[in-house]
Amino acid sequence: MPVAEKRVRVPHLLEMKAKGEPICMLTAYNYTFTRLIDDLVDIILVGDSLGNVELGYETTLPVTMEDMIHHTRAVSRARRHALLVADMPFLSFQGETAAAVENAGRLLKEGGADAVKLEGGEPVLEAVRRMSKIGIPVMGHLGLTPQSVHKFGGFKVQGRGEEAAVKLKTDALALEEAGAFALVLESIPAELAKEITASLTIPTIGIGAGVHCDGQVLVIYDMLGMFDDYVPKFVKRYGAIGEQIRQAVSAYSSEVRARQFPDDAHSYGASVPAALAKTKPEEVGH
Ligand code: KIV
Repeated sequence: MPVAEKRVRVPHLLEMKAKGEPICMLTAYNYTFTRLIDDLVDIILVGDSLGNVELGYETTLPVTMEDMIHHTRAVSRARRHALLVADMPFLSFQGETAAAVENAGRLLKEGGADAVKLEGGEPVLEAVRRMSKIGIPVMGHLGLTPQSVHKFGGFKVQGRGEEAAVKLKTDALALEEAGAFALVLESIPAELAKEITASLTIPTIGIGAGVHCDGQVLVIYDMLGMFDDYVPKFVKRYGAIGEQIRQAVSAYSSEVRARQFPDDAHSYGASVPAALAKTKPEEVGH
C-alpha cells in the first residue's frame, strides 16, 4: 500500500500479506513522535516497552493498564493514518477471560486503539478467541516475550532446537485459528520465522526474526539511536538522534550561560515608554 494514501485497517494487512507487500510497524508512545511518523508506517504499536524507554523500569512487568491507556490516548490524538495497536500489560489478560476482554475493550474505548497485542501461545488462546469473536482485533506475540523474561532467565533467543521450534509453530497456528489477525515473532532464528510465515495466512511481524517475516517492527528509540547503552544484535540504528539532542542542548546551555541567547533576533523590540522607566516598583504591583 502506498504510504499515507488512506487509513490502514486490519483487512489491509491481510491483503498486504497476500500481495507480498512488506508491512512496516514502529513503536510510539506519545503525541509528538506519532505526529512525526504516522504517515510513514503501516502500524504504530504502543508497546509495553514504554515501561523501559519512557518510564525507566528494568522490565515491562510493572506497566499498568492506566499507563497503557494514558500513552495510547496521547498517540491516538496524533494518529491519522497508521493502524494503532496497544499492548496488553502483564497480568491484564493472563487471568479470567472476562477480565482480559474487559481490559482489551478499555484500550479501544478509552485509549482509542484499533487493536490490542498480547504475549503468549496456548495459555491465552481462550482470551484471543473471545476477543476476536466480539470484534476486538488481536495481534499475537511469540518467541522472546519480554513479560516472561524471568522464566527465560534473560533476554535470550527462543525457538532453538526441534522441540522449541515445533512448540512455536504449533502456537502460531493455534493463534491464527483462534482469530489473531497478525503475529509478532521476536528473537527467533530466521529460518524458523520463514517456516512459520509460510504456514500462516495472517501476517508475521518480525523483530530479531530475519527478513522472511511479512513485516518488521523496532522500538523507535532503538532505531533512532537515542541511547548508547546496550544495543541488541537485531537493532539497526538509522540515526544518532541521542547525540544530536545532546549537542543541541549543550549549545543552548552554553549560550544561556554566556548571555548570548536570546539575541535581538529572538527578542521583541519596542522602546520603553519614559513613563514606565520612571515608575516605582510598588506602583506596578511588586
Ligand atoms: O513492547 C514492544 O515494544 C513490543 C515490540 C518490541 C514488538 O512488544
